[in-house]
Amino acid sequence: MVMGGEPPPFDTSVAHTARVYNYWLGGKDNFAADRAAGEQAIKAFPAIPLSARSNRAFLARTVRFLAGEAGIRQFLDIGTGIPSADNTHEVAQSVAPASRVVYVDNDPIVLTHARALLASDPAGATDYIDADLRNPQQILAGARRLLDFSRPVALMLVAILQHLDDEDAPYQIVQTLVDALASGSYLAMSHPAKDIDAEEMAKLANVLNKRMAETVTFRDRAGVARFFDGLELVEPGLVQASKWRPTSESEAASPAALWGGVARKP
Ligand SMILES: C[S@@+](CC[C@H](N)C(=O)[O-])C[C@H]1O[C@@H](n2cnc3c(N)ncnc32)[C@H](O)[C@@H]1O
Repeated sequence: MVMGGEPPPFDTSVAHTARVYNYWLGGKDNFAADRAAGEQAIKAFPAIPLSARSNRAFLARTVRFLAGEAGIRQFLDIGTGIPSADNTHEVAQSVAPASRVVYVDNDPIVLTHARALLASDPAGATDYIDADLRNPQQILAGARRLLDFSRPVALMLVAILQHLDDEDAPYQIVQTLVDALASGSYLAMSHPAKDIDAEEMAKLANVLNKRMAETVTFRDRAGVARFFDGLELVEPGLVQASKWRPTSESEAASPAALWGGVARKP
């Protein structure tokens, strides 16, 4: 990405997860270091670009379910990523124009795209918070500017929790966020799997941990299920992300080394 000849306001010498993911998705918001890391990752796990696309499709399907069948009108999307096709507010507002969406990410490149994320349907609203998931209280305080926490909210943690290692106390962080939600709220999550294509995923983790600014910890199904403790998983439960309510056979058959699920807070 060239920004009018000006040096970009972030470090381009080291690969960053948002930009590597953008590379796998075929986007243009990435630099040489991101592409080199992305390519090495593809050597370790050739299906990773398709897996990233499956994850994006999972995100869109869950938002469509939440705004449609579940009747949710408020979304807190943490780990937004660089805007791509079918961003959360676009999908939610295509179903329910009055949907309100708060985006959160800690990467400055995502912040530079905040304007695109803030292009809300006039009936609804969007906001952007530059914050780290490791500071859930800051996120909740910021989200309260737009969202009414006395009413249901969908908390979206899609392909972000792998960036918290066990020392970051990820279960406690998710619990803090879920505790702030009203009954009838939802948690939608996908998480790269340690136990799907296990050998290749271990190689992928090695490459990413050597080459990226952010580290990754892939978790097995039981480790991901633990994030949903105390919540009621909706059908079909915690499954390979491509198998979560796919809309076509090809969607269902797409490689996806991630666990995905949506659960309701009782
Ligand atoms: C793999 S992308 C996923 C993007 C989007 N949720 C999706 O599934 O298409 C992970 C995103 O999480 C962000 N992220 C990683 N660690 C974070 C943290 N500790 N706090 C906030 N955002 C974080 C990255 O900057 C990146 O944009």
